[in-house]
Amino acid sequence: MANVPDFQTKKVLIMASGNGSNFEAIIKHFKNKGLDVCVNFELLCDKKGANVLNRAKTLNIPAFCVEFDDFSSFLSEKKYDLYVLAGFMRILPDKILKILSTDGIQDNVINIHPSLLPKFRGKNAIKRAFEAGVKKTGVSIHFVNKKLDGGKIIYRHAISAKDVPYNKLESEIHALEHAIYPEIIENLLFKKNVLIFGGGAREHAIARKISVSPFLNKLYLAKPNDGFKNLGETIDFIDYNDLLKKSVAKKIDLLVIGPEAPLFDGLSDIFQNAGISVIGPNKDWAHLEESKIFAKEFMQKNGIKTGKYIPVSSIKGAKQAIETFKNLSVPVIKADGPALGKGVSLPETFLEAEKTAKAFLDGKFGDASKKILIEERLSGKEVSVMSLWDGDTLLSFPPALDYKRLLDVDKGPNTGGMGAVAPNFLNENEQNQIKKYLKTLEAALKNEHAEFTGIVYSGLILTPSGPAVLEYNMRFGDPECQALLELLDTDILFVFLMMAKKALKTIDLRLKRTRAYCLTLAAAGYPENPKKGAKISGFENAEKYGCKVYFAGVKASKTGNGAVETSKTPDNSLITNGGRVLSIVKSGKNALQDIYKAANAIHFDGKMFRKDIGKSFGSDK
Ligand code: GRF
Repeated sequence: MANVPDFQTKKVLIMASGNGSNFEAIIKHFKNKGLDVCVNFELLCDKKGANVLNRAKTLNIPAFCVEFDDFSSFLSEKKYDLYVLAGFMRILPDKILKILSTDGIQDNVINIHPSLLPKFRGKNAIKRAFEAGVKKTGVSIHFVNKKLDGGKIIYRHAISAKDVPYNKLESEIHALEHAIYPEIIENLLFKKNVLIFGGGAREHAIARKISVSPFLNKLYLAKPNDGFKNLGETIDFIDYNDLLKKSVAKKIDLLVIGPEAPLFDGLSDIFQNAGISVIGPNKDWAHLEESKIFAKEFMQKNGIKTGKYIPVSSIKGAKQAIETFKNLSVPVIKADGPALGKGVSLPETFLEAEKTAKAFLDGKFGDASKKILIEERLSGKEVSVMSLWDGDTLLSFPPALDYKRLLDVDKGPNTGGMGAVAPNFLNENEQNQIKKYLKTLEAALKNEHAEFTGIVYSGLILTPSGPAVLEYNMRFGDPECQALLELLDTDILFVFLMMAKKALKTIDLRLKRTRAYCLTLAAAGYPENPKKGAKISGFENAEKYGCKVYFAGVKASKTGNGAVETSKTPDNSLITNGGRVLSIVKSGKNALQDIYKAANAIHFDGKMFRKDIGKSFGSDK
């Protein structure tokens, strides 16, 4: 992102009446980044002699000391883009809030509070949390309403309070405030234009989250499906360079790439070279997903446990390789290249293994299976872990479970994913093993100087001797992403923006303490030959059961207008247009029952879904 944003000068009023350490941190942040040229700060204080006034003087910031009773007249005479409360120990009454609002919309007054709201509202929050003996406390930033420390939360960041002496806790909280508040202010002042690339349920889920972020200026979509295209403005394009040209014209700040194909094609590189931030690795690092052999080499080099394998490119070589597994289980046959999640075969017999290897090498997946891997078959529980990476820090979501097979009890062919659960069902020992694995992965990425911003998806299998990697994907998994975003309590756009600044280490990824589920409804004939064109109806019922619907293989019928995402009265204009038609998502109490109620209430010819999502059984691969 450019250093000095291309915006007109912003005016910010900081309201403070105390010590002013937050005030100082904010001013210094903007000065250090050279952003003070486009942001004018002023201070409003209602306490004569407050230390914050001295700080304003030293920092050369215009300050007004006004009796609180005179605030209304002061504030009605001046207009600011943002009102920042920083140790201003007063509740703003309705009358003042009305004066500050823009066209009745109250999203321009913010406050910082030293606790994890809604806990410990009001004065002496740090002390009260300490005295209550909480294990965790932290900092909250929120929009202001007339309630004491009420209003919608923008960001919360927890720190451990366990066995931390009071003075240390207090200084840690203040340090956190000083690091986070200026970032939030900067990003609220300079809201971003975001482009999301991709048209699956995963991108629908990402788009919906981003569409409600206070950090968003305008949302653009590249290749959305008709089920969510009205969340933003679609950019049509001929090729990636055309997309770039149009994105530059629309002043896109951030591109989020959902699927793998554009990553393999180097879309990330094209945008990054033009100075646009991207969530999604460059072509070199996308190769970790694109080539299973490359991934194996990365793992071997960095001490990451994975199944033994033999890479082959001829039928003779395949036979010989399969032969070496004769005293072990029948090996797995994998295409080296990408095959839409279908390039892994689990033959039952050695003969079947040979036949499969031949079919792969004969071009079942085109160029993707010109080279194949004959790989040791590992057994254990399957786990997928999505981690964010910014070139410096790896921050992981809780492990998820992906139901890859088409049919119940893990039968039938592999698919793109028939459902997901997050967090996965893991005991403490398994969780600790995964944590250890993630440390190894972080060290490996550091060791390899992996300079990219994106997602690393570890497909793991928990073997008796610890987690082994089955595969890497370099993007959010679909459907795991839909379940994980349901759990996420932190603004995803803020997280992405901090990643783009290589500041992921300052983020606390907060997740609801519950379990989220995602169920895929698929079309008849999926995965081989999905039937298209069936009318979809009843998806509005999902809302009745508190579920969210994210569309994937859908399009608007000729008579309808599609674009049902925000419509209260959908016109049933969507028809199926792909294998995985939609995802149904819910978390918390009765989530599974409600998801299945919704699944039964949604109709299209040939509708298929698994009935056992949410059940755990360790499958082998
Ligand atoms: C901070 O802890 C802030 O969270 C709360 O008041 C305190 C102000 O400290 N609202 P300072 O005046 O910025 O030093």
